[in-house]
Amino acid sequence: MNRSRRFHAKAPDMVAGMTQSHPRISKAVIPAAGLGTRFLPATKATPKEMLPVVDKPAIQYVVEEAVAAGLDDVLMVTGRNKRPLEDHFDRNYELESALQKKGDASRLAKVQESSDLATMHYVRQGDPKGLGHAVLCAAPHVGDEPFAVLLGDDLIDPRDPLLQRMVEVQEQRGGSVIALMEVAPEQIHLYGCAAVETTEDSDVVQVSGLVEKPDPADAPSNYAIIGRYVLDPSIFDILRRTEPGRGGEIQLTDALQQLAEDEKIGGPVHGVVFKGRRYDTGDRGDYLRAIVRLACEREDLGPDFRTWLRSYVAEEM
Ligand code: G1P
Repeated sequence: MNRSRRFHAKAPDMVAGMTQSHPRISKAVIPAAGLGTRFLPATKATPKEMLPVVDKPAIQYVVEEAVAAGLDDVLMVTGRNKRPLEDHFDRNYELESALQKKGDASRLAKVQESSDLATMHYVRQGDPKGLGHAVLCAAPHVGDEPFAVLLGDDLIDPRDPLLQRMVEVQEQRGGSVIALMEVAPEQIHLYGCAAVETTEDSDVVQVSGLVEKPDPADAPSNYAIIGRYVLDPSIFDILRRTEPGRGGEIQLTDALQQLAEDEKIGGPVHGVVFKGRRYDTGDRGDYLRAIVRLACEREDLGPDFRTWLRSYVAEEM
């Protein structure tokens, strides 16, 4: 039996005093339809999400993060040439039986890890019309409940849980919650940017406006959206009406701006300000830095790798 289809003992309607109008968040949406052109030729025949970060595909870290936050229903929004993603989260009986025959229990466990993680679903985006459009493709699966969106290019260190906190804030305050990080002003044009007001919680801000990839001179703050969102389902109706924005694409930031502007549509928009470790795997330099940092911290590889790295750096200086 595929253990990913296991029954999850969870009370859907009444958790810790929550009522039916406030269902527990259980669905995560992971847009994964991008072409990964920054990593060509590696991504000619392999999805960028499958590139290894140390010895695990980048996308597996993201699914693990969703599961750690209690979201074990995962919908991937994919496109052409993304079959390896489905295969990775499915059983591989041939490999499993070969490892079983060899008695290699630890590698067998590694093979089974990804297929046991979550209940996986897939939908194809068809036309790549932007992040907002990718999220809209999730509407039939998500239905009328709040849900999370995790972008695969951002890896959040599991020791600095962010999504758990966002889910908690959404359950307390309703509406939608986005993840924010302060960046250097010259970097803000790479991100969605939020105008914010403080709240009584030091890590939570109220979002009063949003703009996608502003010119630094027009940026309302240096709070950048990093790729984690907990969204009210009213976002779907807004996305259906959202015109293409920056880069000619339907932008999730533009739809969220409408929510931030008018609380009556789908509740407020809050931001959780993240100060933990985040690795960007969407850019080649950052991808390399992520691998080095994570390899250094691994118990099995770290000691040898750090020793080598120290002497390599000393030689280079
Ligand atoms: C997307 C969002 C942007 C956000 C970023 C975070 O942009 O549109 O608002 O700041 O992810 O990684 P992308 O990097 O996909 O162009």
